[in-house]
Amino acid sequence: MTKQVLTLRVNGEEHSLAVSPNETLLEVLREDLELTGVKEGCGEGACGTCTVLMDGVPRRACLTLALEAAGQEVITVEGLARAGELTPLQRSFVDGHAIQCGFCTPGMLIAGTHLLQNNPRPTETEVRKALAGHVCRCTGYAKIVKATLAAAEES
Ligand code: FES
Ligand code: FES
Repeated sequence: MTKQVLTLRVNGEEHSLAVSPNETLLEVLREDLELTGVKEGCGEGACGTCTVLMDGVPRRACLTLALEAAGQEVITVEGLARAGELTPLQRSFVDGHAIQCGFCTPGMLIAGTHLLQNNPRPTETEVRKALAGHVCRCTGYAKIVKATLAAAEES
């Protein structure tokens, strides 16, 4: 398949890459840009661990063609911290023991970041709704929800 040149803006940096029309954003982020914080779980849109922000909106990178991201601002979990400082949500996940194996954490943090940007004082129900579709096999979700609410309270 003929490759096309894609200019991709990720975490504030611009990259020029040759990609096949059928390559996913997930493949390009992990394999070409080595942003391995973006995880591949199910590969079919069901687990949420590959979630990134595209122009501020959560998207499943496994279901997104890389070419669809042309001209959009992509934020991965690597792009959340600023100058080495964790965001309040990231800090709250650490302090609140909301991470066990960590495989779901990148997607949870992206979804939680989107929620708090748009609804700084969510209820527990709103947090659970925002995180629906993000599968965690370790924590039972309670600590993730609590950490998200704690981050909202803190900020
Ligand atoms: S890897 Fe994309 S939703 Fe599971
Ligand atoms: S912490 Fe292991 S899957 Fe969520």
